[in-house]
Amino acid sequence: MHPAEIALVQASFRQVVPRADQAAALFYARLFELDPSLRAFFRGDMTEQGRKLMAMIAAAVAGLEKIDALVPAVRALGARHGGYGVTEDHYATVGAALLWTLEKALGPEFTPAVRGAWVSVYSLLANTMIEAQRAAAPAAA
Ligand code: HEM
Repeated sequence: MHPAEIALVQASFRQVVPRADQAAALFYARLFELDPSLRAFFRGDMTEQGRKLMAMIAAAVAGLEKIDALVPAVRALGARHGGYGVTEDHYATVGAALLWTLEKALGPEFTPAVRGAWVSVYSLLANTMIEAQRAAAPAAA
């Protein structure tokens, strides 16, 4: 990713961090609106699940300059998602819910440039996860 994109993602995520629980709740509400069948995939406490998701995004956002160091953890996360029954198509739905949540959380600060930078981050994470998921279970992914 381009340094300017990294700066946009990091600055915009700083705005979301103080309201991370609310953002996570918005995210899951939107996700289940987009695809109600996904609700059955999540068995645990959704506040806790939201915190794990936000912590993972925070780690990725903080480490964007040294993305190579993050790749093993993101690949392992992808392989675990195969075990959760997640398929490649689900990543597009999650990406759409994430962008929608950021738009709600940031309002007018969610400019086209900020949006574009987040599309780059999400694509990077999702593609790395999908690739690892395929490698872990080629038939299931
Ligand atoms: C960039 C994309 C994603 C990130 C960063 C992410 C992050 C996480 C994290 C950190 C966890 C906690 C458990 C663990 O570390 O293994 C988790 C669990 C989970 N994620 Fe994701 N995830 C992503 C995409 C998806 C997608 C596309 C789906 C599809 C619906 C999904 C469904 C789940 C489910 C079902 C669990 C387990 C819930 C449970 O045990 O009840 N995730 N995710």
